[in-house]
Amino acid sequence: MADRHDVVIIGGGPGGYAAALYGAAAGLDIAMIENQKVGGTCLHRGCIPAKELLETAHVRRTLAGAAEFGFTIDEPAMDFGVSQDRSQGVIDKLHSGLSGLLGNRKVRVVNGTGKLLAPGRVGVSGGEDGDLELEGDAVILATGSVPRTIPGFDVDGEIVLTSDELLKLRELPASAVVIGGGAIGCEFASMMADLGTEVTILEALPKILPGLDGDVAKIVERSFKKRGITIHTGVEVKGHEPGGSGTKVSFGDDQTIEVEKVVVSVGRRPLSDVLELDGTGVEVDERGFVKVDERCRTTVDGVWAVGDLIPTAQLAHVGFAEAIVVIRDILGEDAVPVDYTRVPWCIYCHPEVAFAGLSEDAAKEAGHEVVTVKHRFGGNGRALIIGEADGLVKIIAEKQEDGTGGQILGVHMVGPWVTEQLGQGYLAVNWEATVDDVAQFLQPHPSLSENFGEAVMSLTGRGLHG
Ligand code: NAI
Repeated sequence: MADRHDVVIIGGGPGGYAAALYGAAAGLDIAMIENQKVGGTCLHRGCIPAKELLETAHVRRTLAGAAEFGFTIDEPAMDFGVSQDRSQGVIDKLHSGLSGLLGNRKVRVVNGTGKLLAPGRVGVSGGEDGDLELEGDAVILATGSVPRTIPGFDVDGEIVLTSDELLKLRELPASAVVIGGGAIGCEFASMMADLGTEVTILEALPKILPGLDGDVAKIVERSFKKRGITIHTGVEVKGHEPGGSGTKVSFGDDQTIEVEKVVVSVGRRPLSDVLELDGTGVEVDERGFVKVDERCRTTVDGVWAVGDLIPTAQLAHVGFAEAIVVIRDILGEDAVPVDYTRVPWCIYCHPEVAFAGLSEDAAKEAGHEVVTVKHRFGGNGRALIIGEADGLVKIIAEKQEDGTGGQILGVHMVGPWVTEQLGQGYLAVNWEATVDDVAQFLQPHPSLSENFGEAVMSLTGRGLHG
């Protein structure tokens, strides 16, 4: 006989484990099936190790700039493997913390691969816990995503890599082509360039980081070029011919480039095929994403889906938020759907990027009459002290009759530690605050966050420093 639980979750990444923790905290009896380690892509092959390596790049830049502070340092030698070991140490600590939390909340973690047999029935196979069947009043699908690949670039882990393989390298290549200038491509390009790799980005669209506000994208692109990253946009990548110690990549109009490694970062595809959904009534779209409504309900009663498996922003924190919506829905509580137009986006390349809400172009396209302001970190005391004054805060607000700003529609930041500074902007956008609401709040001095406060104040028509 199958074991029965209130909720059975397939997948133990951010979407799955957040549902497990939140559901268990609300008193639900939960089983969660995972075929690798709890924590998913984010913890083991994504956000956490990638940001650790980006921090290593930050340390390298700090060493390079130490002379300005009076330190004389010989060209530092680097052992990339040490940083990888440190990264694994961070992962292990977080993994053990997460496992402890799940245990404390009495979540049953089942090792194996889960698939939906029928609404309310889940099969588990191929894992340490043997083949078994679980029943759940509710089932949550949370199997996540894997890197997409492109024809002509078979991932061999030697020459052609995705983020999965790159995050395991013990040594960085002398040269690399990054195919795809999205979030993953730009984070890796930035990290590798700062650590000495000669990097070329090949992007199909007219600009890297498509979707960013134009003023922000320009600053990232300028910094990348200054740091030696070559960027080709609007190019088609054709294929590659291995030879010598690397490969020759062809792109555009008969252009070629010889590099040691190729990093493919052209998006991630949902991992829905493993669930064998055919015949269950759970519909997937043509790209493989599970179709859901605004409360993440699939096309079958009693089955929900969250995270990278559904066609919403592929961000760990969006997975967390969706998990909470689902558990509240299962409990029959008022579940406020995620407002996907206002989620926080943070890209950890150098310079960092963070934003929430509409870009200037998107606000205009949506019919808003807007007023905008840009405040550069060049005028900010703390930014000058830390020696990272490149960047700006841009705010887009509804234009009032007197020309000043009304409701804040978008906050866009590029520069030092902006991923840690977005919080106030995110709250302002999501609380539908006006410029006047926010301008009265104090910012600590000297701090990087003053730049946000100053920008908001300028939109009242009476700025303090500009
Ligand atoms: P992405 O969709 O953000 O970017 C992929 C890029 O590759 C696009 O600019 C696209 O135009 C380009 N591209 C696609 N096919 C191409 C081809 N054949 N040749 C050249 N360029 C091509 O996907 P990415 O960067 O792989 O990230 C996957 C997901 O993970 C995204 O949803 C991303 O937002 C999320 N993510 C977010 C992070 C963050 O916010 N810090 C970090 C890592 C991932």
